[in-house]
Amino acid sequence: MSESILLDVRNLSVEFAMSRSRMGLGPRRSLSAVSDVSLCVAAGETIGLVGESGSGKSTFGRAILRLGELTKGQVFLDGQDMAQARGEDLARLRRETAMIFQDPFGSLNPRLTVRQAIGEVLHVHGKADADGARARITELLELVGLDAALMDRRPGDLSGGQCQRIGIARALAIEPRLIVADECVAALDVSIQGQIINLLMELGQRMHLGMIFIAHDLAMVRRLCDRIAVMYLGRIVEEGPTEEVFGDPRHPYTRSLIEAVPEIDPARGLPAAPLQGEPPSPVDLPKGCSFHPRCPLARSECSAILPPLVGARAHRAACILAPGGQLNKAGDNLPKTIPVTPTERTVKC
Ligand SMILES: Nc1ncnc2c1ncn2[C@@H]1O[C@H](COP(=O)(O)OP(=O)(O)OP(=O)(O)O)[C@@H](O)[C@H]1O
Ligand SMILES: [Mg+2]
Repeated sequence: MSESILLDVRNLSVEFAMSRSRMGLGPRRSLSAVSDVSLCVAAGETIGLVGESGSGKSTFGRAILRLGELTKGQVFLDGQDMAQARGEDLARLRRETAMIFQDPFGSLNPRLTVRQAIGEVLHVHGKADADGARARITELLELVGLDAALMDRRPGDLSGGQCQRIGIARALAIEPRLIVADECVAALDVSIQGQIINLLMELGQRMHLGMIFIAHDLAMVRRLCDRIAVMYLGRIVEEGPTEEVFGDPRHPYTRSLIEAVPEIDPARGLPAAPLQGEPPSPVDLPKGCSFHPRCPLARSECSAILPPLVGARAHRAACILAPGGQLNKAGDNLPKTIPVTPTERTVKC
């Protein structure tokens, strides 16, 4: 991993104002989509951002690229805070970052040909003049494994995989240094997913890109990413080098997510305590650790203490039972078994 920090996000929060109740009564409430998230990405590094639906992954990805709202925090790109950037600074952020979206068809204008779709990006960012555009478009199509003969086709004439490659070509056209790929293969067939992942891995290395790869598919994240950050209800609950997190998950939520995918480690067998129910509403977060109402290891303290991320700098978890946590100064592994019966847990938490 390169040592040069490309992106340094500090204490980022995103809150959405909620409309009042139908009667128009009561205080205005807000939904906490991202809470106090800090994350670094080095040049050439790929970080996997995982977590259940609604955990705030897309909101975080959009906020750091300033494609969505941001309530608090700092977003340093090469040491310059972009959180409130305007004018030329914001233009630099636009030139140096790109997002790849989930829906390969929806992210392209159906009226534009491939040539126009990529040419538009080159033009807006001043990356090629009219004479140079055709050669550059051909080059970009080759880079993403597409034949230049597709240049005059429109999205409706192309497959999902081809459209996604064009989405990637458009992202690469601006020569970004940081890419946020949000579920960018989820809508594709499994065989095509593999090809696109291979492409992203190769391009990431070749172009020394920083990449945040948002996905639900943990096996894919394990294959692609150097580090992994696990989000639960707007917070990062665990972060570390991919193999360390998969080999020794230190937050009960991470452990549940990994155990729910048997093919990641067939030797592990079925989960001892599968994750139950849905996350609570982000409008009304539980006190203490947000995960405690679903946590198989929850203690009474968990409903009172909001645990910070602790551990060795490279691998940290936000759990009082994790190594270095408030109830585990000795640095032991997470308990393997449930320490209290479900009835006791219900009463205590
Ligand atoms: N514009 C918005 N206004 C109000 N609430 C929003 C808005 N965008 C997202 N949210 C809420 O913020 C929370 C986080 O949503 P987000 O889309 O970031 O989650 P996610 O982790 O990307 O989920 P998924 O895996 O389903 O894509 C959710 O509760 C969502 O309903
Ligand atoms: Mg999302």
